[in-house]
Amino acid sequence: MAFSLLGINGSPKKPVHKSNTHFLLKTTLDSAEAEGIQTTLISLAEYDILQCNGCEVCTTKPCPLDQKDDYPKIEQLISSHQGLVIASPSYWTGPPSILKNVLDRSRDNKMSDQLWANKVFAPIAVSGLRVGGQESVISSLINFALGHGMVIVGNIGHPWFNAPFPMGTMMYDCEEEGKSRVKFRSVKKDPIATKDAVLLGQRMASFGKKMFS
Ligand SMILES: Cc1cc2nc3c(=O)[nH]c(=O)nc-3n(C[C@H](O)[C@H](O)[C@H](O)COP(=O)(O)O)c2cc1C
Repeated sequence: MAFSLLGINGSPKKPVHKSNTHFLLKTTLDSAEAEGIQTTLISLAEYDILQCNGCEVCTTKPCPLDQKDDYPKIEQLISSHQGLVIASPSYWTGPPSILKNVLDRSRDNKMSDQLWANKVFAPIAVSGLRVGGQESVISSLINFALGHGMVIVGNIGHPWFNAPFPMGTMMYDCEEEGKSRVKFRSVKKDPIATKDAVLLGQRMASFGKKMFS
């Protein structure tokens, strides 16, 4: 079975091409594609996902909400790929509600015998602020993946300058006429996060090939 990679953009922003989270995720997937990996990118903004109502049916049976919304399409895509990257904006330092709905709705896959165990997983986070909750979002996504028995894989880049996972910011300090002015721009202009996204695609490709060849 050849390794293939699914990327989920957890931002609710439309149009999708304006999403900063989409940019970093696509950078990672393009980098994996360049290493010969087949990839698929979806944006949750284009799906209708109902919120978990806590009925607990998922402990023994498929979620009853699966009859009513688009979640089964996402479940099927995760099941059919061996690798998964979830990219999330920071909303109050956590994932936005549409992504949290997906995480919650995935519980029946864990309860019915850890169906997603051993998938290769990596998170990506984007915040408006330079220190805006990226690490909390990353931590939340890693815990989700560990709960499903997935294997977490991060970048290996420069030992001083690259983080294990891309963590973007839109804030920067713009020097104008000798004065420091804090401004916001696209995460496309965050060269560190962009480099980390490229490295992540390369690492997922090399690790995935070793695990699934
Ligand atoms: C409801 C809401 C909550 C947010 N909370 C935070 C936050 O806690 N910290 C932060 O730095 N940015 C916060 N932001 C800004 C987003 O993180 C930022 O706009 C996001 O990275 C944009 O990603 P996107 O373009 O892919 O949607 C928030 C934005 C929204 C709409």
